[in-house]
Amino acid sequence: MAALRERFGRPLRLAILGGGPGSWIGHMHRSAAELDGWWRVVGGVFSSDPERSRDGGASLGFDRARCYGTLDELIAKERGRPDPAEAVAIMTPNDTHYPLAAAALDAGLDVVCDKPVTHDANEARDLVERTHRHGRLFAVAHGYSAYPMTRYARHLVDAGALGELRYVQVEYIQSGLAMRLDDGPQNNRLRWLLDPRRSGLALVMSAIGCHAQQLASFAVDRRVARVCADALAVGPNRRVIDTVSALLRFDGDLAGTFTAFQAAAGSENDIRLRIYGDKGMIDWSHRDASHLGIALLNEGPRVVGRGDANLPPGIVALGRAPRGHPEGLREAFANIYAEVAQERMLRTLGEPLPAFRYPRIEEGAHTMAFIEACVASQGRWVDV
Ligand SMILES: NC(=O)c1ccc[n+]([C@@H]2O[C@H](COP(=O)([O-])OP(=O)(O)OC[C@H]3O[C@@H](n4cnc5c(N)ncnc54)[C@H](O)[C@@H]3O)[C@@H](O)[C@H]2O)c1
Repeated sequence: MAALRERFGRPLRLAILGGGPGSWIGHMHRSAAELDGWWRVVGGVFSSDPERSRDGGASLGFDRARCYGTLDELIAKERGRPDPAEAVAIMTPNDTHYPLAAAALDAGLDVVCDKPVTHDANEARDLVERTHRHGRLFAVAHGYSAYPMTRYARHLVDAGALGELRYVQVEYIQSGLAMRLDDGPQNNRLRWLLDPRRSGLALVMSAIGCHAQQLASFAVDRRVARVCADALAVGPNRRVIDTVSALLRFDGDLAGTFTAFQAAAGSENDIRLRIYGDKGMIDWSHRDASHLGIALLNEGPRVVGRGDANLPPGIVALGRAPRGHPEGLREAFANIYAEVAQERMLRTLGEPLPAFRYPRIEEGAHTMAFIEACVASQGRWVDV
């Protein structure tokens, strides 16, 4: 694919929305986009306050002339340049994703959007429609399904290595809401997170549950058809949902369980995916993201690692450093950015497209429907 970059002649140009100084995920997007040379970040809107946006962007090292006060200003001024931004990456507070993404698509820009893509499923379906109508690309920043070993899990499922699938267990457990943040002094980030009108229908789902569902659906290549969920706040004096436990039925009546819990003191982004079939099982843990446990009937358990020579070349190519050197979320984000860029370049050159596996807005819309179903379920089975 390096030859593609050469044929295209230059990196694509990306503008950032959000991700100002001090934000959590901003540097992850910026550095991941540029990691392999597919994109060059040219500027953006870095705050909801125009002056803070200009100062913040300049302090991150961007040309002040390309640090804008609003998305409208960015679109208008970039259009007048010979080298305009061709895509935006959205990493603002959750309630702004939908209007920013809709406006960017309408302006003819490709979009990489952080999750949750919208407030609800209706808005997400609207983004699907706009993406198609404008012929754009729309990726969702679900990094966990872009690790080499989670891609290999999907490869094994596709290849039938596990046989007929029987059960899926997915969980994402984290300490982000373990403290009594609700009662104490709040910074800008906590103010929008702890306000359910801004952070979404269920904070734990906006924050981490969406990743768990997307990872499981990706790995077994099935949507969740029905769910029976318990959504609650275990933290005291809390207005947002911090815990969702659910029984799942994927398409094809595949059964599973789902746990998203954000008030787990001591936990550190513990994500685990186990998939069981009639020939064996696989087990992936984010704590040891570069390895995948595989146990097939009559073969005993083994562990494969990122970069193992006998892995398919497409899986090996998702890693960068030799085995044993840690890689993680940044590289997974970079895999998404690389695939979006390759698809855009191939489309522009009119060349055939492989089936890139980055998460798309259609998956984002399914996740929003899943979140709605979890919140509505209240212990009953409901359709997604
Ligand atoms: N994919 C992941 O793994 C992952 C991880 C963390 C956060 N996120 C998502 O990223 C988003 C941001 O999260 P965060 O923790 O970095 O938040 P944050 O509060 O730390 O940062 C938000 C940034 O957006 C800027 N901003 C606010 N409103 C804006 C607007 N209207 N226009 C331009 N900039 C604006 C703020 O100034 C700030 O710099 C959230 O949607 C969150 O769900 C995703």
